[in-house]
Amino acid sequence: GAPVEVNIAALDEGALLSVTWRGKPVWVVRRTQEMLDSLDNVASKLADPDSSAPQQPAYCQNKYRAIKDPILVMVGICTHLGCSPSFRPDASEWSMDVPGFFCPCHGSHYDISGRVYAGQPAPLNMQVPPYRYSSDELIVVG
Ligand code: FES
Repeated sequence: GAPVEVNIAALDEGALLSVTWRGKPVWVVRRTQEMLDSLDNVASKLADPDSSAPQQPAYCQNKYRAIKDPILVMVGICTHLGCSPSFRPDASEWSMDVPGFFCPCHGSHYDISGRVYAGQPAPLNMQVPPYRYSSDELIVVG
């Protein structure tokens, strides 16, 4: 499939923008400082905090899983059986104490970098696709 260009100039802090790439949803989230800070609190509860599984690009092998720390770019598909998780930006709205993603199909929980918690049905962190910045506010996915 062709690369997809995403303009993030109008993307608010804390908001999620979804585009389609190769028939899959790709999510772009401009994370708040609070969201970024939450990543330190969950590391010990995750299955693969450093995204060391081999299908992940090198630039996501850290807690932000991103080229630019605040901007998450991720394939929005649960690694269990392929449902699309829900965005849970407000920690008080779900059972976790930090923002993240929740898959309604079988209950997998992910942090706000798409890293899966240990002991969930989903075996892997959600996939970070190949992407690059063509300018400050333009991301090219694929
Ligand atoms: Fe997401 Fe099963 S498809 S938990």
